[in-house]
Amino acid sequence: MWDEPRLRFGGDWNPEQWPEQVWAEDVTLMRRARVNLVTVGVFAWSRLEPAPGRYDFGWLDRVLDLLADNGIRAALATPTASPPPWFSLAHPEALPVTDAGVRLHHGSRDTYCAAAPAYRAAASRIAGVLADRYAHHPALELWHVHNEYGTVCHCEHAATAFRAWLTARHGSLDALNAAWTTSFWSQHYSDWEQISTPRATQYLANPGQLLDFRRFWSDTLLAAYTEQRDLLRAANPAVPVTTNYVLADWVPVDHARWAAEVDLVAIDHYPSAVDGGAEEQTALAADLARGWARHGARARAAAGPPATARVPGDAAGSAWLLMESAPNLIYTAGRMHAKEPGRMARHSLAHVARGSRGAMYFQWRAPVGGAERFHSALVPHAGPDSRVFRETVELGGILDRIAETDGAAVEASVAIGWDAASGWALRHPGLPSQRIDHHGEVAAAHRALWRAGFGCDVVLPGDSVDGYALLVLPALYLASDAVAAWARGYVEGGGHLLVTWLSGVADEHARVRTGGYPGAFRDVLGVRVEEFHPLADGDEVPLGGGGTGRIWAEDVGLTGAEAVRAYAGGVLAGRPAVTRHRHGAGTAWYVSTRPDDETYRRLLMEAALAAGAAPTCPAAPAGVEAVRRRGAAGSWLFLLNHTDRAHRVPATGVELLTGAAVDTAVEVPAGGVAVVREAAPAR
Ligand code: GAL
Ligand code: ZN
Repeated sequence: MWDEPRLRFGGDWNPEQWPEQVWAEDVTLMRRARVNLVTVGVFAWSRLEPAPGRYDFGWLDRVLDLLADNGIRAALATPTASPPPWFSLAHPEALPVTDAGVRLHHGSRDTYCAAAPAYRAAASRIAGVLADRYAHHPALELWHVHNEYGTVCHCEHAATAFRAWLTARHGSLDALNAAWTTSFWSQHYSDWEQISTPRATQYLANPGQLLDFRRFWSDTLLAAYTEQRDLLRAANPAVPVTTNYVLADWVPVDHARWAAEVDLVAIDHYPSAVDGGAEEQTALAADLARGWARHGARARAAAGPPATARVPGDAAGSAWLLMESAPNLIYTAGRMHAKEPGRMARHSLAHVARGSRGAMYFQWRAPVGGAERFHSALVPHAGPDSRVFRETVELGGILDRIAETDGAAVEASVAIGWDAASGWALRHPGLPSQRIDHHGEVAAAHRALWRAGFGCDVVLPGDSVDGYALLVLPALYLASDAVAAWARGYVEGGGHLLVTWLSGVADEHARVRTGGYPGAFRDVLGVRVEEFHPLADGDEVPLGGGGTGRIWAEDVGLTGAEAVRAYAGGVLAGRPAVTRHRHGAGTAWYVSTRPDDETYRRLLMEAALAAGAAPTCPAAPAGVEAVRRRGAAGSWLFLLNHTDRAHRVPATGVELLTGAAVDTAVEVPAGGVAVVREAAPAR
């Protein structure tokens, strides 16, 4: 069960797409690969309920029994991400409407409106029936609710629900008018009924309305999830429940807030970069998942007496799972890129190194038809006699050999802030530059720390940051007074803070703070900015000491801070670009541009070392990623070699993949991985 160290391995299995003879072969192959968990039923609604209220569970009974007989567990999904045709035809009012008022038709998936009562009722009904039938099935290890919540809608149901949500949030129309600054462009509302969702309009939409619309959908989709979760939980409280997150900042889901409502944070991760960027994106995705899970565990603990966790976390309470990833292809603009040999395992093990309770894939067997017929699979179209399946078998063995690491905490000395609302607000129109994106700025700072070799935890504004040497807040555009006080308190107490441009500029309603940027953090940073100088595509501004700034620059006035780097060209030549401020017992850095990657790496390394942080494995060569896990039984060093030649890295202990003793150094093969159970507590 979830309290024993055991890494999960498997993926989405869709036996409903295949004749039953194939099921037996599937299970034989799963056993060969040591698959121990498969997700079933994700999009099977029309096969489970072929007509309203008429169910066909025979096939799923046989599937689950077959799994149980073979010692394979199931993450049983509710199929509500894809309502059957009969449902959409009977309830056209439950089909989603775009902001331009176009009602979409059945024909793909995710074509439903979670604010439509008929959809919610139908979803609860099928979830309830599945709960009654399978909650005590011996194969059941996890409930997987829905799939990647994220569909928004602008229909009348949504508008009505939005108004109710706004009433609860703002209390009065006066408060809403103030929060949305409706005095601008004659938008003052005198009756709640005048308010709608931000439908397509003539010119730029209202940023307050756009932001609340995202928050509303996050809460509405969360309610759709918790409704199903509660039914599943009632049927058997011991079985954990989760839903898989889609990782993208267009998604109207506040992942951190949702984390308090799932027993295990589950993410789907598909890197978009083909080169080394894929590894860096993988590290960030995993650190985000762990951070959300930790945040959720703390929120649960704060909300009430600690119920026994259905999935115990690491020392920090963090429990998460890589629920989906691609065995082979990486999607890039317009084409699919095959992963090089060994890369599938390296990506998966990078997630495991960062705390994932296993490595799961979309999907087990490649389908012959359907929209995703060319998506990669553990059993590709070529069949089991294939490189990908051989690598699958090999990875199953590796996961078994490193199972003892499961549940150990991931070491991190730097914290990096992430905020869903800032991400949403920085997608609004009318900003000083359209090249700003919160997630991109978090990724750039994370990449710099990753390349410098520092372990990183993702934190949410307001989370406890005790014990981190350095806190980095990239483009934290929205900051409430409470968030400003949180950052100030951290620095006054002796912490080292590094804030980047466009942070603290607006409050929680996306209203700009006056008196100089970066409003909320001016005092702690000891700077005051009067003017922005956003840069054009391809423009760079030279920085003193080498390197360049991109995307953004600004005219930084010193009100207590000292300049540590200056702009070395352009209209800002000689003006401060990077500053440092001794404040209280701590230090606060401000970075007013986006340094190129190498300059950023050196800058963050300087700030981290000055703060007393240490890289995980200082001797690891460039391109070899090091992550340390620590548990009651000791510590483990994961070394992931992303280069095309072997490297020797200093370590002592036992290498778990080979079982070999490591006296002074371990050889990590080109493109390969080593996991060392360390002999003595490191550091
Ligand atoms: C995920 C989704 C899967 C599959 C996969 C393809 O987002 O949950 O069902 O579509 O993407 O990459
Ligand atoms: Zn709707």
